[in-house]
Amino acid sequence: MPEYKLVIEGGRVLQGETYVSGGKNTSLAVVPAALLAESPCLIENLPDIEDIRVLVQILRHLGAKVDWLPQKNQMSIDPTQLTTNIVPFHLSQKMRASYYLMGALLGRYGFAKVGYPGGCNLGSRPIDQHLKGFRALGAKIREDKGMIVLEGKLKGANINFDMVTVGGTINVMLAACRAEGDTILTNCAKEPHIVDTANFLNRIGARIRGAGTDTIRIRGVKKLGGGSYTVIPDQIETGTLMIAAAATRGNVILRGCIPTHMEALTAKLLEMGVLVTSEDDIISVQLRQGHRAIRLSTQEYPGFPTDLQQPMSALLTRAVGTSEVIENIFDSRFKHLDEMRKMGAKSVINGRIAYIEGVPELHGAPLVAPDLRGGAALVIAGLMANGITEIYNPETIARGYEHLESKLNALGGIVRRENIQTGNTVYANSF
Ligand code: EPZ
Repeated sequence: MPEYKLVIEGGRVLQGETYVSGGKNTSLAVVPAALLAESPCLIENLPDIEDIRVLVQILRHLGAKVDWLPQKNQMSIDPTQLTTNIVPFHLSQKMRASYYLMGALLGRYGFAKVGYPGGCNLGSRPIDQHLKGFRALGAKIREDKGMIVLEGKLKGANINFDMVTVGGTINVMLAACRAEGDTILTNCAKEPHIVDTANFLNRIGARIRGAGTDTIRIRGVKKLGGGSYTVIPDQIETGTLMIAAAATRGNVILRGCIPTHMEALTAKLLEMGVLVTSEDDIISVQLRQGHRAIRLSTQEYPGFPTDLQQPMSALLTRAVGTSEVIENIFDSRFKHLDEMRKMGAKSVINGRIAYIEGVPELHGAPLVAPDLRGGAALVIAGLMANGITEIYNPETIARGYEHLESKLNALGGIVRRENIQTGNTVYANSF
């Protein structure tokens, strides 16, 4: 297998317009949710990313008929002839969102056997709240050689999550859609993709109210039909591109986004001295003055998203003054800052707090992408740095960003993918 690296020629100012792709985390919930239906579904605006390709593999393994048209960002899913309810470990561990197969298959068939989920290593990532919810709905759960087996006829229940969990909220919502009677979920996560998944399920016949608030009420229905649905734009890709624009002191217009999903980031960029304006589905980012250091603390939506903490802390390495970044959601989400020391960035990490002392310049260096958003943070670092930055393990970035290189290149960045063995450029400027 050829290995690749990203090569970034830093110091270019990003300018011009680009578009935002469909939401990764909403797509990774909506596609498994289609398994609850008893007729085919057509999902549009799905991003062409590695995690979606893995999901296609999983759905086909289960016997679903899947037509994935990446050029059209469109997938039709016919879940009427599933041949198995077992998601083997080698597939489940390829991504975090494989946990949604538990809720979808359990909700539809009363049985699921799914390997433990994989995904980014951000410290401990238990799924006890998902399992607590399934148990409350009446599932019996056991482990069988690294697989989780869930079984039972589900009945509505009142479930209060011990902590706010995005995956847990969606997963239990999936399972409860076809349970007998009413379910009330409290202390729910409120992220836009929870609302989007509920909207999709309601479109195909579910009865869910309250998604986007901390209480979600679900009236179980006997059957869900098929239908078509367009997923919302990616909140985190929008934010990553906004930060990239600010980092290069650029002037960028992003089309096809939802500005109200970006309020926490917008407020912080304004505080740093970046000019952000929005109208309808367009956001413009422009540097007004030098970047100022800030204090930032990640929170559940509508707070500052943990997924943007890494790109944002890369930007803060060049701000004037010392920034304080508190990561409240995950134990270990600062590995990109360790990498960035090779570029001359200065930070001190104390558990979940990073103190970042801004430096006047960064220099290019060979780096390893530690995880998806950490990889995106290193791309931003490479764009800001003087000279050439190489990023190894770029596959982790491709898991979550559609055409990132070509979008950045279309804005005037120079980012290419090189075969490590041959030095050939394998993918660039195909926008
Ligand atoms: C989802 O992960 C996203 N993944 C993550 O996206 C995102 O960072 C995260 O939500 C927070 O917004 C997908 O949607 C596929 P959580 P998830 O359950 O569901 C603890 C990205 O880069 N917890 O909200 O795993 C957990 O350890 C990524 O796109 C439990 O203790 O996040 C964490 O500290 C990475 N028990 C906190 O709650 C549980 O049962 C929040 O996790 C569940 C969670």
